[in-house]
Amino acid sequence: MGETIRFGVSIDDKLLESFDRLIDRKGYMNRSEAIRDLIRGALVELKWEGGEEETVGTVTLVYNHHVRDLSDKLTEQQHLHHGEIVSALHVHLDAHNCLEVLVVRGKAREVKRIADALIGVKGVKHGKLVMTTTGEELP
Ligand code: NI
Repeated sequence: MGETIRFGVSIDDKLLESFDRLIDRKGYMNRSEAIRDLIRGALVELKWEGGEEETVGTVTLVYNHHVRDLSDKLTEQQHLHHGEIVSALHVHLDAHNCLEVLVVRGKAREVKRIADALIGVKGVKHGKLVMTTTGEELP
C-alpha cells in the first residue's frame, strides 16, 4: 500500500443521493470506504477479463438428488477437475434437496469454465460462481 491521497470528485446531486443510500444499505462507514471498494471491485473484474490471472472462487449448487443421474454427473465433473476443485462441502437441505459449495482454484478462465460446466448440468436448480481475491496483487 502506498501513501493515502485525498482527491475531490464532482458529482450530480441526485447521483450522490443515490450513492449515499447505497452506502447506508451496504453498511459502509463513509463515502471514501465505499469508493475504495468500488474501485477495487472494478480492478479485479478487469484482471479477470483477461482470464490468465490465478484466482479462487466458490461455486454454489442446489439440486434435487432424486433427479436421475444428476448426483453422478456432478461427481463425475468434480473428479474431472480434481486438480482445481480443492474443497467441497455438501449439506442435505431436506429430504430431497442438496446444497454443494465447491472451492475452485486456477486461472480465471478455467475457474469460469468449470463453474459453467457444473451449473450447466441438467437439473441443477440454482448455481452461482463467486470469484474472489486476497486483494494483495492490487496496487
Ligand atoms: Ni445431499
